[in-house]
Amino acid sequence: MGGIRIVRKTSEMQSLSSKVKREGRTIGFVPTMGYLHDGHLSLMRRARKDNDLVVLSIFVNPIQFGPHEDYKKYPRDFKKDERLAKGAGVDVLFYPAVKEVYPDGYSTYVEVDTLSNVLCGASRPGHFKGVTTVVAKLFNIVQPDKAYFGQKDAQQTIIIKKMVSDLNIGLKIKVMPIVREEDGLAMSSRNIYLSVEERRDAAVLFSSLQEAVDMIKSGEIISSRVISRIRDMIGEKKTARIDYVTIVDPLTLKGVKRISGAVLIALAVWAGKTRLIDNMVVYG
Ligand code: PAJ
Repeated sequence: MGGIRIVRKTSEMQSLSSKVKREGRTIGFVPTMGYLHDGHLSLMRRARKDNDLVVLSIFVNPIQFGPHEDYKKYPRDFKKDERLAKGAGVDVLFYPAVKEVYPDGYSTYVEVDTLSNVLCGASRPGHFKGVTTVVAKLFNIVQPDKAYFGQKDAQQTIIIKKMVSDLNIGLKIKVMPIVREEDGLAMSSRNIYLSVEERRDAAVLFSSLQEAVDMIKSGEIISSRVISRIRDMIGEKKTARIDYVTIVDPLTLKGVKRISGAVLIALAVWAGKTRLIDNMVVYG
């Protein structure tokens, strides 16, 4: 395996991708905001298996953060990321500056209606508009055959699939399972913000979801009962505060009252000042 090529200019990335495609080679793409962990790496490894060229992007996208969110202090460690990406078999690391992606006067946005306004979108107005805008731009720049996303951000994958279908973007979206820490906490770049106590309490996201899945598998079909159980379990933890707990249809994100067939159990919890999300899909 040769070295990793770092590309900082949009025009260079675009012409590199065009050349690779002209040669009939396939491109697998993993968009990230960096501070890479095993969850990100699982996407890169899969992209490596499926494609001739693997492109990773690292870009902390300012427009998907709210005014009081953590854009400025979002963790960054480019040197470590570069090393990890190399180890996972990435060929090209696209690492543009903010001005390169959003030059002065930038004014075009991509918004997926309805799906973007519920769950995390209700708590984070404008967040998904920022995500779909940057992902649409990255797709145009990198021109991948396949793009890899994590089930960790279940709503994000649903919204991006909808955007790809609605805008006739010619690529496949691949969704990979959630990678977890030993105690079940979903890996996240933001876990680094947690205090020792918050980190210990945060395991309840996973254990309450597991309990919910067990209830449904044992025959519970009333969503509100399952949700109450999750709320009670999280309520027992001193440092955890619920943003939302919901059971929805995994395609439409519409609330489900009586469970039959596949449902998505999704939750967001504040651990001090850090907002954590997790989810499980279960067949009732
Ligand atoms: P980021 O949070 O860096 O995540 C990049 C990708 O890694 C996403 O597809 C996310 O779902 C996936 N991922 C994160 N944690 C994971 C875990 N524990 N297991 C499996 N996959 C995991 O999501 C974003 O960045 C941004 O919104 C982005 C799509 C890059 C647009 O800016």
